[in-house]
Amino acid sequence: MAETARVKFYNLSLEERARWLAEQRGLAADEIAALTGESGLTPEQADHMIENVIGLHALPLGIAQNFVVNGREVLVPMAIEEPSVVAGASFMARLARAGGGFFAHTTPPEMIGQMQIIQLENPAEARLKILERQADLLLEAGKIDAVLARLGGGPRGIEVRLIEQSAIGPFLVLHLIYDVRDAMGANAINTAMERLSPLVEEITGGKVHLRILSNLADRRLARARCTIPFSELAFNDFSADAVRDGIIAAWAFAASDPYRAATHNKGIMNGVDAVVIATGNDWRAVEAGAHAYAARGGKYISLSTWSKGADGGLVGTLEMPMAVGTVGGATRVHPTAKAALKLMGVQSASQLAEIIVSVGLAQNLAALRALATEGIQRGHMGLHARQVAIAAGAQGEMVNRLADQLVAERNVRIDRAEEILHEWSN
Ligand code: MEV
Repeated sequence: MAETARVKFYNLSLEERARWLAEQRGLAADEIAALTGESGLTPEQADHMIENVIGLHALPLGIAQNFVVNGREVLVPMAIEEPSVVAGASFMARLARAGGGFFAHTTPPEMIGQMQIIQLENPAEARLKILERQADLLLEAGKIDAVLARLGGGPRGIEVRLIEQSAIGPFLVLHLIYDVRDAMGANAINTAMERLSPLVEEITGGKVHLRILSNLADRRLARARCTIPFSELAFNDFSADAVRDGIIAAWAFAASDPYRAATHNKGIMNGVDAVVIATGNDWRAVEAGAHAYAARGGKYISLSTWSKGADGGLVGTLEMPMAVGTVGGATRVHPTAKAALKLMGVQSASQLAEIIVSVGLAQNLAALRALATEGIQRGHMGLHARQVAIAAGAQGEMVNRLADQLVAERNVRIDRAEEILHEWSN
């Protein structure tokens, strides 16, 4: 495992961090500039991405440290506005690396396209007619993307369900399973579904209504596991047993109650989304997939599990759909997204998904460890105080000084911050 040089990243200045990154990962000056915000997406480029562009909207970009995923050291770019997330992921990755880091894998990158077929004389018969012509349909769907086919992707199968009762009576739902390789896949799927519809209408005699990808990408899963050794669990006044059992009890809450599960999974998505956004991927798609997957059994539950390991340590797992790409879309247009992928040394969408799901698991651990011991506010307080200090008008060194004062007073409020600034300026 190539060891990333140990450095107290948070102690470095912005310039020193950029220099360190360039040295560690051999990034070119323009790639570093894209990550630091010196260059990056221009309004002119943005104007080609969406409509009615007037400018850009920035987010902080941090680097999570200590991650070892499948034996490889990874520096993880995270785009997020919330304090404590990057620090939490980095710290939990440090605990996990004592147990070998994160072990992650993905299922094949198979996405699902859906087609709604209505106005059928005999829906049950139409269903079988479609299945009989599966080979023809797959051949037709395979024609849409020669590049994808050359890379080993393409249609894999057809499934058809009969919805017997609905507001419009019975109808059929056709699923096209499509291996999209390193793409997120929405374009390939939607094109294939539109291409298939005349043939499906001919076969069934019905009318094809909706043709669109499903965000419940439950055939394209990413899974990660980690072990926190017993020796890494204790801290402050909390014993290893208390930390481990507290985390398991916190997980048990999320595994049985949807109100808690929503918050628990939100904590996972803090990590997941930050990397998805940093790499120019569609975080709404990943969010939709995650929450639908969490409810797949008819009840919304935790996406992760936490249990006691063989040596008394803590074992975590996370499994969720991960529709992310490394080709196409913003991943290849947005200079910061391109540099983010380069920074991680990611070669494929699966590799990216493995890192993302590992970050999600680390983030979940960070939240549960805090919640199960000293509470979330203590850790949050310092960073929150810095945001309040900036909002009150503090600049430069004054930001930390004011934040420390607010925390010492246990009064992290903007009116008090303004008051202190005023006192200091007189
Ligand atoms: C806050 O952004 C996320 C947490 O609420 C997650 C959790 O409760 O597990 C701390």
